Amino acid sequence: MYNDLVGAMETEEEEAIVRETVESLATYTRYHFRTEEALMRRAGYDEEAFVSHCREHQAFTDQIAAFQDRLFDGSLGMSAELADSMGVWLTTHIQDTDPGYVTDIREAGIG
Ligand SMILES: [Fe+2]
Repeated sequence: MYNDLVGAMETEEEEAIVRETVESLATYTRYHFRTEEALMRRAGYDEEAFVSHCREHQAFTDQIAAFQDRLFDGSLGMSAELADSMGVWLTTHIQDTDPGYVTDIREAGIG
C-alpha cells in the first residue's frame, strides 16, 4: 500500500490511490489489530507492554479516522502526509513494537 501510494504521487492516479489507501488501511487495521491483540492476550503477554502496544494501535487508528474524515470533506491533497504517517508506522510500530510479543506467542505455541 505504501509503495503504491508513493508511486502514484503527482500522477493522475493520486487521488484514487489516496482514497483507496485510506479505506484499505481502515479495514485492514481494524481486523489486524483485533487479531494481534487477541493473540497477545492468549499468549499471556506482559500487561504493561500490552496496554502500551494497544495505545499505539489506537493512535494509528485515530490517525486513519482523521484521514477518512478529510476524504469525506473532499480534501484529497494529503498523499505526502499519509505516506509520512505510514512510513513512521512501518519504521516504529512494525519494526520496533510488534517484535516484542513474538517470543511470547511462539512459547505459547500459537504463532
Ligand atoms: Fe501491533
